[in-house]
Amino acid sequence: MDKGQEEKDEQNQFEEMIQGLIDNKYGCSNDFVNATTVTGLRENIKHADQSGVLKAAGIGNQKNLIQNSQIRGDKIKWIDDKSLNQFEQIYLKKVGNFIAHLNKTCFTSIKSFDSHYANYEPNSFYKRHVDQFKNEKGRKYSLVLFLNQDWQKADGGLLSLYPEGAPQRDISPIGGRMVFFKSDEMEHEVHPSSTRDRRSIAAWLKD
Ligand code: OGA
Ligand code: MN
Repeated sequence: MDKGQEEKDEQNQFEEMIQGLIDNKYGCSNDFVNATTVTGLRENIKHADQSGVLKAAGIGNQKNLIQNSQIRGDKIKWIDDKSLNQFEQIYLKKVGNFIAHLNKTCFTSIKSFDSHYANYEPNSFYKRHVDQFKNEKGRKYSLVLFLNQDWQKADGGLLSLYPEGAPQRDISPIGGRMVFFKSDEMEHEVHPSSTRDRRSIAAWLKD
């Protein structure tokens, strides 16, 4: 495919996500990155897990940071902005392009973003919450990219969204799928899988 066409496809994908946010309070793209990149990112988190570098995730921030697996049971690893890993570079570039598009078309003023891998072992979950901290309002938009191969309905692990004034939406964590919503208002929840590890990358766009 030529460069011009690729850019147009990317713009259409970004528009689909933004239109979803406007119409339904969340956007979704089923192939935010290609299958090779999803596999590469999934292998990265598998290796990180095997080598013991994932850390129990916390709730809150700074002085209020606590660990409580009855609220949140995933293990995480932050992604370095200057990563030399080819798949992380593809991911970071794509999110950067999305932010540029958002700032240009939606008058947002996103200046940076943070991303982490998350591994939910069987039966771990993250109870209903919003992503913006009470004492620090920098997080404006959330992005969740799923990294799972051949995820089946019977595997569970749904991401439930609770848009205000609209019915709950249950989203299957299928590899390559990206979900987009506002960090201050969208309540959401990660349900457990009883069958397998559930892997994702969560990112927060900040102003
Ligand atoms: C989070 C979160 C969702 C997911 O990390 O705040 O809601 O599916 N993650 O990983
Ligand atoms: Mn969240």
